[in-house]
Amino acid sequence: MFFRIVLDNIFLIYKKNKERGIMMKKVGVLYFSGGGNTKKMAEAIVEGVKVAGGEAEMFKSTEFSGEAKDYDAVAFGCSAAGSDQLEAFLFEPFWNKSKVTMEDKKVVLFGSYGWSTDWMDRWSEDAKNAEVNVIDTCICKAEPDEDTLNTCRELGKKLAE
Ligand SMILES: Cc1cc2nc3c(=O)[nH]c(=O)nc-3n(C[C@H](O)[C@H](O)[C@H](O)COP(=O)(O)O)c2cc1C
Repeated sequence: MFFRIVLDNIFLIYKKNKERGIMMKKVGVLYFSGGGNTKKMAEAIVEGVKVAGGEAEMFKSTEFSGEAKDYDAVAFGCSAAGSDQLEAFLFEPFWNKSKVTMEDKKVVLFGSYGWSTDWMDRWSEDAKNAEVNVIDTCICKAEPDEDTLNTCRELGKKLAE
């Protein structure tokens, strides 16, 4: 009987906290997109986070004044630029600063490319070397189609879990 009351109370506290949003995961979606393709992927990730009951904040890397480590999980987005690289001025410095602060937080890498997926191979390798916990990546050629957007939504859900 005593244990039953204790269990009921624990459940009530859990429910109340959930209602208040205390246990809601806060996910950052931080990206560079020159022409808007990667931005569309970012928006779909945000949708997925919200469907899963999480809170999402989406910022361009150049307009973000916070710190990536302040989120429970982060989706980093950047389209292929340079010679199959991250955008060198508007995103890469931000990524380099952020990657070393991620600890074991869930991270997703995403972005659009024009003709080569090498940029994501390099980026994933760099994240691995920095011991970033990349749970998945999502890439697409040019503008994301509905399948890609659905994949992004699923990733958003995973980040919010
Ligand atoms: C200046 C510039 C450099 C680019 N360099 C590459 C590249 O090295 N490799 C590649 O696959 N695509 C490259 N692209 C193509 C873009 O990655 C592609 O158009 C992508 O869809 C852009 O996504 P965004 O609209 O999110 O910026 C380049 C595009 C621009 C404008």
